[in-house]
Amino acid sequence: MSVGQIAHAVSVGVVGAGQIGRTVAHAFAEHGPVVLMDRDPDALAQATAAIRRAHLARLLRKATTVPGDVLMERITTTGDLHRAATAGLVVENVTEDAELKLAVHRGLAAAPPGTVIAANTSVIPISFLAKAHEDPGRLLGLHFMIPATEIRTVELITGPATAQATAERATRILDDAGFAAVTVGDGPGFVANRVLMPMVNDAAALVRTGVAAPADVDAVFTACNGHRLGPLATADLIGLDTVVHSLRMLVRFTGEERFQPDPLLLRLVGEGRSGRKAGRGFFSYGTGAA
Ligand SMILES: NC(=O)c1ccc[n+]([C@@H]2O[C@H](COP(=O)([O-])OP(=O)(O)OC[C@H]3O[C@@H](n4cnc5c(N)ncnc54)[C@H](O)[C@@H]3O)[C@@H](O)[C@H]2O)c1
Repeated sequence: MSVGQIAHAVSVGVVGAGQIGRTVAHAFAEHGPVVLMDRDPDALAQATAAIRRAHLARLLRKATTVPGDVLMERITTTGDLHRAATAGLVVENVTEDAELKLAVHRGLAAAPPGTVIAANTSVIPISFLAKAHEDPGRLLGLHFMIPATEIRTVELITGPATAQATAERATRILDDAGFAAVTVGDGPGFVANRVLMPMVNDAAALVRTGVAAPADVDAVFTACNGHRLGPLATADLIGLDTVVHSLRMLVRFTGEERFQPDPLLLRLVGEGRSGRKAGRGFFSYGTGAA
């Protein structure tokens, strides 16, 4: 057994190596073996480099004792979905697109019995993704916050068909890896994004209509309201493209037009200013690539 590895750590498959998936893979690799899957080899290469950098920063801050080479040896990268599905827990983190996720979940339905399958989605109801599964009892939602290495509490979403045993097993696996869970019911955006996404959208509208500059919008939340980050810095961290996808999924699954993405969000994404990962969004981040 290597440093920091828990004797009974289950293997974790992480599907989607983008902004959040790479931090989920990193967090679980501090406790045991991880298979990180993406259809895009460049995403896997970028994820590996980002995990290496982020881990060095965690070692310097003494946030972990797992040596960098041990961590990286625990992460296997692959383009094969079925390899990632052969794990105790699979966390799906592909792009926030309902049909795309449904197709990936059809592939995950072939996972061996006993595997817990988790959708890490910002908005898409678990009941919708359950349609892809022969056994929807083993599907639940685990909504990780970015970066998952630092924010150790997740929203655990039980869909109408989620088995009690699945929720209990997921809670145990999370607990072993140092995560706490807040259990919530199913519904578009669950709790976090049903509140956060319209807040980001409204904050963007305030900037677009000239009521306040981005830094001043955020200062009201950080300095006056005690938030750790303002809504616009949070949106940059999430990725403005993912914010736009999430708002569109809120429109689709609630039927409410009030969630339509603000024109300023659409313009920024259209200009390639998709937030921290691009080096620019509402704010600038030097060379970028978080
Ligand atoms: N960014 C966040 O803060 C955050 C937090 C929690 C949950 N989420 C959710 O996690 C998911 C991913 O978000 P993200 O911000 O990482 O997006 P992203 O665009 O950064 O990454 C998505 C990744 O999915 C990969 N992908 C797409 N289709 C695939 C397929 N068929 N098979 C394998 N890989 C595929 C892409 O190549 C890409 O690397 C979304 O559902 C999002 O709503 C995001």
